[in-house]
Amino acid sequence: MRAELQDPSSPTWAAQREELRLLHTKAPGQAAVAPTIVGTSSALKGLVEVAERVARRNAKVLITGESGVGKDVIARFIHARSPRADQRFVALNCAAFSETLLESELFGHVKGSFTGAYRDKIGKLQQAHRGTIFLDEIAEMSVRMQALLLRFLENGEIQPVGSDAPPIRSDVRVLSATNRDLTEMVAKGEFREDLLYRIKVAHIQVPPLRDRKDDIRALVEHTLVRCDDRVAIAEEALVLLESYRWPGNVRELQNVIEQMASMTAGDEIGIEDLPPSIAAPQGSHAYPRRERRRRVSDEIYEALVSGGKRFWEDVHTMFTNRDLTRADVRQIVRRGLAMTGGNYRGVLQLFGMESQDYKKLMNFLAAHDCVVDYREFREVKHDTGVRAADAPRVTDPSA
Ligand SMILES: Nc1ncnc2c1ncn2[C@@H]1O[C@H](COP(=O)(O)OP(=O)(O)OP(=O)(O)O)[C@@H](O)[C@H]1O
Ligand SMILES: [Mg+2]
Repeated sequence: MRAELQDPSSPTWAAQREELRLLHTKAPGQAAVAPTIVGTSSALKGLVEVAERVARRNAKVLITGESGVGKDVIARFIHARSPRADQRFVALNCAAFSETLLESELFGHVKGSFTGAYRDKIGKLQQAHRGTIFLDEIAEMSVRMQALLLRFLENGEIQPVGSDAPPIRSDVRVLSATNRDLTEMVAKGEFREDLLYRIKVAHIQVPPLRDRKDDIRALVEHTLVRCDDRVAIAEEALVLLESYRWPGNVRELQNVIEQMASMTAGDEIGIEDLPPSIAAPQGSHAYPRRERRRRVSDEIYEALVSGGKRFWEDVHTMFTNRDLTRADVRQIVRRGLAMTGGNYRGVLQLFGMESQDYKKLMNFLAAHDCVVDYREFREVKHDTGVRAADAPRVTDPSA
């Protein structure tokens, strides 16, 4: 193996070099385009200023915040505004891989190093050489992977899985993100303190949407223009959107607006088009029985999405104790499907469940007649990506 990697005339080595050459070949001026960050609140404006400032330096940045607040957007923004903008931005979701696969994704592997390693593979850290790597959901890394990453951060050296060749050096800027409290994880011994200090040279905390309500109008307007610029929204509906808690943050807001824009009969979204959980005034108890039940499921849904409740520990237990009805569970699942564009695996992630719980969840729902047909949610486009064509600016429609 060693001879193969070291011998520049070996076909493997030549293929690797070619792959790397292609990866790093960029047309001049092909710099990343910064995503549009929409919002008018002082919190968001301050955050973008900090992002601009840290972008210019090489510091490692930790981005934290609830699911759907825009951590991904901020990471891409930092890269696009950094001196590395004309190099690669390589994103890796640490929660999407088992430990072995994550090691190989990060560091690469040599052919035959484990079952399924049919050819040499270049890891993301090497792909991102001279550019930026974005380690999303970094809290999900196992303790062993944390140690390997720490070693890389200390010496910049990559050792592909199964290779005994001298390590390869890579110069990458590391951005990380998580929706978990890493300090609390350090206290519990689940996350290495030395790694936390390494990745958190700068820290950007993205506040939940409910704490920057001033952004809601701008986000609604931006989303409406993007999905159908002939549809407007009534002032009363906007006021209700502003008082809703948005547990799924900007992602939830985008989904709600896209759904309403595609469903509304006229050319203006009114109160009657709003989902019941948003249309019902907060804190009011004068609901008919059906509405009351709906609120129970809404509260549970919100707690699941924000991490305040866990599915198996709380929801399952409440259901077995008959504190939740089948209709409640169906409604929770329905909202999850609406949020993820009819994707049950996405619901699992949204509710903070392990991906291997898929079968367990489906069996539980089937056994209790709570399966909701995902197809009705598939028609609505679910978009969580960053638009490449977006202009490099911070949008402030009121400015
Ligand atoms: N300020 C913003 N302006 C415009 N779009 C935004 C903004 N914040 C978030 N978005 C959009 O909201 C969606 C969710 O954002 P993003 O994926 O960055 O969230 P996240 O914090 O990374 O979520 P998760 O923790 O689930 O990964 C995306 O479609 C993103 O483009
Ligand atoms: Mg993200």
